[in-house]
Amino acid sequence: MIYFDFAATTPMDYEAAEVYIKVATEIFGNTSSLHDIGGQAQTLLENCRKELAALLDVDKKGLYFTSGGSESNFLAIEALLSSPLKNGKHIIAGMAEHSSVHGVLTRLERLGYEITLLPFNSKGLIDQEQLINSIKPETILVALQHINSEIGTIQPIKEMAGFCKANRIHFHSDFVQSFGKINLKKITPIVSSFSFSGHKIYGPKGIGGVYLNPSIPWKPFFPDGSHESGFRPGTLNLPAIAAMTIAAQKIIRNMEEDLSKFKSKRKAFIEALEPIKNRVKVYQADDDSQLPTIIGMRITGIEGQWLMLECNRLGFAISTGSACQIGMQTPAKVTKALGLNDEEATEFIRISLGHSSKIEDIVRLGETIVGIVQSFKSVSVILRN
Ligand SMILES: Cc1ncc(COP(=O)(O)O)c(C=O)c1O
Repeated sequence: MIYFDFAATTPMDYEAAEVYIKVATEIFGNTSSLHDIGGQAQTLLENCRKELAALLDVDKKGLYFTSGGSESNFLAIEALLSSPLKNGKHIIAGMAEHSSVHGVLTRLERLGYEITLLPFNSKGLIDQEQLINSIKPETILVALQHINSEIGTIQPIKEMAGFCKANRIHFHSDFVQSFGKINLKKITPIVSSFSFSGHKIYGPKGIGGVYLNPSIPWKPFFPDGSHESGFRPGTLNLPAIAAMTIAAQKIIRNMEEDLSKFKSKRKAFIEALEPIKNRVKVYQADDDSQLPTIIGMRITGIEGQWLMLECNRLGFAISTGSACQIGMQTPAKVTKALGLNDEEATEFIRISLGHSSKIEDIVRLGETIVGIVQSFKSVSVILRN
């Protein structure tokens, strides 16, 4: 089986896994314990925090570890709302945000907050004019993801966060799909907070973090927590933190080189679909606003779930969108943001590339999809006769 679902999760890097085992078995102390074994764990924890802060060009004082991107989104939004820059109860977010953002927004709506959700334009981007026009005097928070997990479009966070900052509005961004994939150093100083996760970058699952600008005097969501300065309670998962740090160092070191390789691989996949190009619609932005590893598309007349199962039968693991929606029978959120109708939404599929994706396998996947679509056409002709 060849894996093309790296936006859902990645296999753990071998070196990161070795570090995980070493820390779990040798540096196992509780970082809060006062004895030397605890102290050794605490030193490693702070070294990891320092290293991640350097990779992201942020102050380590604002970096908190969590159980992953979902919890980070929740806690960051709650923290920002505990310390708004002005009075008001209006929040703006993207329609295609991850379900963890929508989950906290639903909770906040019940508490009396007014939520405005912004769609994508035809290129899968938030319209900046629309964002500006949606801002009200009582807008206190804007939450917009950096890279969409289903189509890979890169939002212009720098401009939007800068505008919010100038208007005394907190800006949170979900960096889960951009951390380790593109350079974040130019935008980390502008946002109020961002979230990241270990398992999208060949680190362990169940680990991630939040950066909250240290100038924000947030109040804890969970009462009486002692770990992470009260930001999140619970004994820290130090093996996972150390392994995520190694994975982050490795992926960021090779980021630029990987990006150019992925661009040609994406091109090769799309070219392989040439024989059915009249039926293929790839949702993408211009090159400089597009992560090459995520290809979100649909093929007219072919149900995405059926195509995914056919690909699976033929040895390729692809996806119909966000893995977090399995079992929910709802189409990928991005389809709503893009304004697709119900039928078009069911046709959506996502192919996402990773380090082990070889160009010959990518081309073979494209040819396999062409074969499936062409044989589906002949089957339906036979059925109609
Ligand atoms: C954009 C985005 N945000 C948040 C998450 C959630 O991250 P985690 O699985 O670490 O909770 C995901 C994972 O699918 C994601 O793609």
